[in-house]
Amino acid sequence: MNSLDVENVRKDFPILDQKINGRQLVYLDNAATTQKPVQVLDASRSYYQEINSNIHRGVHQLSQLATSAHEKARETIARFINAQRPEEVIFTSGTTDSINLVADIFRKSGRMKKGGNIIISGLEHHSNVVPWQMICEQLELELKVIPVLDDGTLDQEAYEELIDTKTELVAICHISNAFGTVNNIADICSKARSVNALTVIDGAQSISHELIDVQSIGCDFYCFSGHKCYAPTGVGALYGKFSLLSELPPWKGGGEMIKEVTFDKTTYNDPPYKFEAGTPNIEGGIALAAALDYVNNLGISAIRNHESALINKAAEFLGQIDGLTIYGPPERVGSLSFNISDIHHFDLGTLLDKMGFALRTGHHCCQPLMSRFGVSGTLRASFAIYNTFEEVENLAKAVEKSLNMLR
Ligand code: ALA
Repeated sequence: MNSLDVENVRKDFPILDQKINGRQLVYLDNAATTQKPVQVLDASRSYYQEINSNIHRGVHQLSQLATSAHEKARETIARFINAQRPEEVIFTSGTTDSINLVADIFRKSGRMKKGGNIIISGLEHHSNVVPWQMICEQLELELKVIPVLDDGTLDQEAYEELIDTKTELVAICHISNAFGTVNNIADICSKARSVNALTVIDGAQSISHELIDVQSIGCDFYCFSGHKCYAPTGVGALYGKFSLLSELPPWKGGGEMIKEVTFDKTTYNDPPYKFEAGTPNIEGGIALAAALDYVNNLGISAIRNHESALINKAAEFLGQIDGLTIYGPPERVGSLSFNISDIHHFDLGTLLDKMGFALRTGHHCCQPLMSRFGVSGTLRASFAIYNTFEEVENLAKAVEKSLNMLR
C-alpha cells in the first residue's frame, strides 16, 4: 500500500518546528488554512527574485517568462482537477471569490427567472450561503435548503423532493468544513442535470484530501482556494465548463478582459481572460501550481490513507472521553468536530492552546449548521499530511488534562 513518509514531509514545513506557549506546536487547524512547504515558499521567492513582471503585457523577456510561468500554472491546475482544457480554469483570490464570480455572472446573464429556485444545503459555510441568498433577494428566487440528518449527512430524499423544473442552480460543498461529511456530489450533479439545473461545487475542503475529477463529478463549476492546499492565501481557482464560460457575460471590467475598447463600445476577451480583469496574483498562481505538484508527488492515495487513519484514531481516542460528542458521520474527511457536555468549546480551546495545540473553536462560518445541532460552536481538529499519530494521542491526553482543570 502507498504510504506517506511523514517524518520527511515534516522537514518541508519549518513552521511546525516551534514552541507555542513553551510547548511543541501541534497544528490541527488545517481546514482554516494549511502550512506551506519550502517548495512552495521557494516558488514564491524565485518568482519575485528572478522573473517578476506583469503578464500578457510586454514583449520584453521578463514579461514573457512571467506569462509562460503563469500559463503553465493554469495547465497544472487543469490537469490536477482533470479539466478538459486549461481555458476552463479562472484564477481568483479563493473559494469565496470563485462563488461570488459565478453568482454575479448569473445575475448579469438574465438566465435566472423570477419564481425559480436555487438549492444549497444545511452543511454549507457562509461563503456558499450568502452569495446565493443575495441573488435570490435581488432576482426574487426561492432559496431551498437540503436538510442535514442527525448523523451529519444530507437528506437525499429531501433533495429529490426539493429539486424541480424551476431549479436554476444547485450549490453544494464537496466536503463539509465543520463536520468532514463527504457529499455524493456526482449523484447530486446528475439529479440537477435531469432538470437542467446548473451545479456549483465548493471544493474548499476537498482539494487537499481527495482526487478531484471535474469530468466524472459532472459539475458545471468547481471552486477552491490555494491556501487550504499548502499554497499562499489570496489565490484560488474557478473551474467552469468551457461552453458555459463562453456564453456567460464577463464579471469585473478592466484590462485583460477586453479584446478592443473604444468609448462607444468594448468587446470582450475569450475565457478565461474574460473573467480575469486587472493584474492577477501572478506569484500566487505559480505557488499554487508548486503546491499541487507537491501534493501530486506525495500521491493523493497515500495522503488519503494517512489522513483517514489519523482521523479514525482521533475519533477513537476522543470518543472514550466522558461526555464528549463527535458530530458528523464516521466516514469523515479532514475535519473532526466535537463538544464536551458541560464545557464551553472556547474554554477548552484556550487551555489546549496553552499546551501548544492549535484547533479552531466557534461556529466555523456555519451558523445555520450549528443552530441545527443546537450549539453555538464546536471544537474542530482538522488534519493534514504532516500530522502524526503521536499528536493525535497527545491531543486526547491534553483534552483529558484540560477537563480535570475545568471540572
Ligand atoms: N472556512 C474556513 C474554516 O473552515 C475558514 O475554518
